[in-house]
Amino acid sequence: MRLSINGKAHDVDVDPSTPLLWVLREQVGLTGTKYGCGVAQCGACTVHIDGAPVRSCVMPASAVAGKKITTIEGLAQGSTLHKVQKAWVEHDGPQCGYCQAGMIMAAAALLKEKPRPTDADIDAAITNICRCGTFQQVREAIHAAAKA
Ligand code: FES
Ligand code: FES
Repeated sequence: MRLSINGKAHDVDVDPSTPLLWVLREQVGLTGTKYGCGVAQCGACTVHIDGAPVRSCVMPASAVAGKKITTIEGLAQGSTLHKVQKAWVEHDGPQCGYCQAGMIMAAAALLKEKPRPTDADIDAAITNICRCGTFQQVREAIHAAAKA
């Protein structure tokens, strides 16, 4: 099947039920999207499908053929970081970093939907799990990105 990932077409030969996460990581070589739980709970595998945040560990590849898939590798515009990525760098919030690509993708989708989110909006939208407990830093970085 043909997948459109970060603006490029990729022909992949996989079982249609293969989760998108594994196609991205193992077929296409985009390893920025992480595997955490595998059951749609942690958000480490978050990517955008047609601009909306999706947990790729439970998304069959066949369901996204023909749609626009964006991963953390495709969030920046060339050498210009997305405003969420810039805020992340400026706030230096990540600890181990494992969950952070998913956090950034979820945050970018939230700001597209709600350019000035409240704390409640952030809590409702960012249900990603961070074992290092960076939730407060994530919230601050999202507010900073909203003002950028
Ligand atoms: S790995 Fe997909 S939600 Fe945890
Ligand atoms: S920064 Fe370590 S899991 Fe979130």
